Amino acid sequence: MASDQHKQLATIIKETHSRLRNDCRIYGPKEAWNRHVARTDDLQKYAVSMQELATAHWDNINLKPKENTYCRISWIKNRCYEYFMNGGKEKFIEREINIAKKNNINSNENSSVLNVIPELTNEHHDGDIFKQIKLLDVGSCYNPFGDDDNFDVTAVDLAPYSDRVLQCDFLNVIIGSMTIISNDTPTILELGRDSFDVCVFSLLLEYFPCPEQRYLCCEKAYNLLKNNGILFIITPDSKHVGANAKIMKSWRFVLAKLGFMRIYYEKLRHIHCMCFRKCINKNVALRWTMLQTFPSNDILFESITKIYIPQDIQIDKTCEKKSDITYEAEELLNGFLELPQVINE
Ligand SMILES: C[S@@+](CC[C@H](N)C(=O)[O-])C[C@H]1O[C@@H](n2cnc3c(N)ncnc32)[C@H](O)[C@@H]1O
Repeated sequence: MASDQHKQLATIIKETHSRLRNDCRIYGPKEAWNRHVARTDDLQKYAVSMQELATAHWDNINLKPKENTYCRISWIKNRCYEYFMNGGKEKFIEREINIAKKNNINSNENSSVLNVIPELTNEHHDGDIFKQIKLLDVGSCYNPFGDDDNFDVTAVDLAPYSDRVLQCDFLNVIIGSMTIISNDTPTILELGRDSFDVCVFSLLLEYFPCPEQRYLCCEKAYNLLKNNGILFIITPDSKHVGANAKIMKSWRFVLAKLGFMRIYYEKLRHIHCMCFRKCINKNVALRWTMLQTFPSNDILFESITKIYIPQDIQIDKTCEKKSDITYEAEELLNGFLELPQVINE
């Protein structure tokens, strides 16, 4: 059972999301976003509530049977160790080479897979010296990766919970030749292209009220990651694994069009955990999309620059027409998918 305090915290989160979605419907995404970022006091309240919920109430909820340490942060860390320290990266490079060879896939402007292998192998081990994994945590809130020396973390948030997190509106951040941080305030001025090993979107994409904004974030992640870099997406969903499988497939489709290959996926009790690798050769990622058949006239697969979440899709049963989003009152209340239910257990 959730305590009154938990309910209050969840209400602040839900109401923030509801208002943003409502504004988006009334004013359109750009104006709604400008209004949203201007409400600094409310964003700060959101940050405090989120930190409290995440650290005090959710951490041990997404359990696998008999595993009590399996929260989303652990999932991401474990996959990073596997990928960067235990041969995962080399395995996926090899897989990429094999796919390219077998299918006569030419190298693209991102360079040939074969040329880059020697320099990439063991990039994080130089003799006994371990090079930290450069991790960009977008929408970090309270910097949950900051306590792990394996990572060199750049934690950014619209409204940072602490001064270990840099202020940055990722939707509008400039991507330049290097990461530039303001001297006066802990604020990101620019993020460096091709400079991160890992980018994390943990409970971030569903914050945005429109599918184009979510896509824009994924495109930015692609540009910020090095070749072989990995993007983690954690998204809430308390239903069974098949319930939103088509939506998850559409994300895989859109991300493959960008040049990402999905390498790890797991459905935990309340979240989908996904990891996508930036292929050295974009054409290898694209190949997966060519092997798929998609239902015709399905809004989920119609655009390669939109990422939908379940609340976006409404089926008007009377005319059997699928329509783009309208956020009804009930959906607004459920604004943050199943998160409130997580704390109601
Ligand atoms: C639901 S919280 C997730 C916090 C944390 N990642 C976690 O998993 O517990 C979403 C966070 O994303 C941040 N956020 C939303 N839009 C953002 C943007 N455009 N740029 C940076 N951070 C953003 C919010 O301020 C909020 O802290």
